[in-house]
Amino acid sequence: MRVSVAARLCALASILAITSACAGQAASAALSESAERGRELFAGAGACRSCHSLEQDERIIGPSLYGVASRAAERESDLSAEQYLHEAITEPNKYIVAGFDGGLMPQTYATKLSNVQIDDLVAYLLTLK
Ligand code: HEC
Repeated sequence: MRVSVAARLCALASILAITSACAGQAASAALSESAERGRELFAGAGACRSCHSLEQDERIIGPSLYGVASRAAERESDLSAEQYLHEAITEPNKYIVAGFDGGLMPQTYATKLSNVQIDDLVAYLLTLK
């Protein structure tokens, strides 16, 4: 019995669809639940994305956050990466990134976001290595 070309293509397409669906799951499973919520907040309600690119060296209003997890610990000598990122969100004017002006990043996240939301954002930023 001959199997039509269309049927073979269909079978192939469904195999590809399954593998790409699995690849997507593996990628999101790599993020903790907290980091996953932070990722959504970053692009969505937090509106961080409107000022911060995730592409290397792409400047919008703020600096690109590509690789920010790898620089965060060196920003202020007495702060760990996690502490610095927390401060960068809640008190943005405490440390101004070289080449940028202070006062542009909203100063209101400490009150507008819940502690859990801020922790989620920090967990997400810590994945940007
Ligand atoms: C209106 C634009 C704007 C928005 C919205 C904004 N930022 Fe910023 N952000 C900036 C600017 C400008 C800087 C650099 C000046 C400074 O250090 O304050 C900055 C700096 C930072 C830094 C420090 C980066 C480094 O390399 O040390 C982090 C982290 C950061 N922002 C995270 C966030 C997060 C998370 C949000 C969303 C909750 C956000 N920003 C929303 C403009 C913005």
